[in-house]
Amino acid sequence: MGVKIEGIAFTVLFFLGLCPIFPLCSSAANQPRNSIKPTHPTSANRLGSSAVFQVQGNVYPLGYYTVSLNIGYPSKTFDLDIDSGSDLTWVQCDAPCQGCTKPRDELYKPNNNVVQCSDQLCSRIHLSTSSPCSAPDEQCDYEVEYADNGASLGVLVRDFIPLQLTNGSVIRPQIAFGCGYDQKFSGPTSPPSTAGVLGLGSSKASILSQLHSLGLTRNVVGHCLSGQGGGYLFFGDDLIPSSGVVWTPMLSSSSEMRYSSGPAELFFNGKPSNVKGLEVIFDSGSSYTYFNSKAYQGVVDLVVNDLKGSQLTRATEDPSLPICWKGTKPFKSLRDVKSYFKPLSLSFTKRKNVQLPLPPEAYLIITKHGNVCLGILNGDEVGLEDLNIIGDISLQDKMLIYDNEKQQIGWVSSNCDRLPNEDREFDDDFSLPYAANFDILADR
Ligand SMILES: *[C@@H]1O[C@H](CO)[C@@H](O)[C@H](O)[C@H]1NC(C)=O
Repeated sequence: MGVKIEGIAFTVLFFLGLCPIFPLCSSAANQPRNSIKPTHPTSANRLGSSAVFQVQGNVYPLGYYTVSLNIGYPSKTFDLDIDSGSDLTWVQCDAPCQGCTKPRDELYKPNNNVVQCSDQLCSRIHLSTSSPCSAPDEQCDYEVEYADNGASLGVLVRDFIPLQLTNGSVIRPQIAFGCGYDQKFSGPTSPPSTAGVLGLGSSKASILSQLHSLGLTRNVVGHCLSGQGGGYLFFGDDLIPSSGVVWTPMLSSSSEMRYSSGPAELFFNGKPSNVKGLEVIFDSGSSYTYFNSKAYQGVVDLVVNDLKGSQLTRATEDPSLPICWKGTKPFKSLRDVKSYFKPLSLSFTKRKNVQLPLPPEAYLIITKHGNVCLGILNGDEVGLEDLNIIGDISLQDKMLIYDNEKQQIGWVSSNCDRLPNEDREFDDDFSLPYAANFDILADR
């Protein structure tokens, strides 16, 4: 959803009281049962069960990272924006639809599989509202709003989401997600080219939480976004390296479940600064990093002062981002500018002192005009008020792990262009091309 800050806003909504637009749920008797087909029995003890997805996308120029998720039986593939800042997964819906950007044959078509109001999951997405449903047999509506003012409104459906697990088994669990028939997009790159959002959050409505409840994966999700574009995403804990990961506790303060931590202090070139006490949200649904205006001003002062006397001059004519600089000739890559900029880092001191390194690549982009721009932005200017958001730009080239079981967030610098743990000997047919959404699940 463009320069997205999505998902960090309120994600839980109200019952809309619309006439049902779909027939109510009926049992999907003519569909296959959840099936588990062990394909590599010998690997059973070597690996547990995680699902791995290949990621596409980049910070600039695209502004988002996506995975392809297969849904249904027979299944269709949907490109979904990965968003650790929100919970609910939704896809554009083949119902009378406003704000569907995909052609009709690329929309999700509900098939007597609407989730009813009486379903436990429905009450969980309506937790914060007083009377979500007026009758138990009504369809379960949802609405999610994002901090960039984008929104999706629709109905919950339940369908098969085929997955290959790291232990070699192919599973076909039935998972509830949103069928969105009224979308609002905002931001510079709207409408987006994606078919929906994959919410990685931890509430009961998320795909992760449902897989965990079904006993299929640990309640852990992680991603590794490559600065070259692409990367991978996983549900479960099998890909987590046994050493090198540093952990900081999740904050569980707010009523909204977010992957946040803090307080954190900004270090500039290894030295402490006056930017401190930051609570930060890790949000893969945001392209850039946002600080509250005081912290933002602090960062800008540090960087600008440090550039004094260098060959870089402000490029106010470059509209890509608020602060850009040009050199004596156009820059081609971040390598050309690295020597001008100092490394930043965030220091989290809650449990023990751990650092989130932010080298120049984690806070700068090179634009198509050949200038270098600051990818840390003022959240106040986009209505984020005091929130601080660590977006894709600063998450690149690290494995980020959100461990909901131990309530902690971890990271380790990583080459996201290939799967880790190659010493664990993935089966040959597993490692390429990653684990998920293989055509082995194609319908016969
Ligand atoms: C793989 O993990 C799933 C989920 O935990 C389990 O149901 C399945 O039996 C496992 N398969 C093998 C081959 O161990």
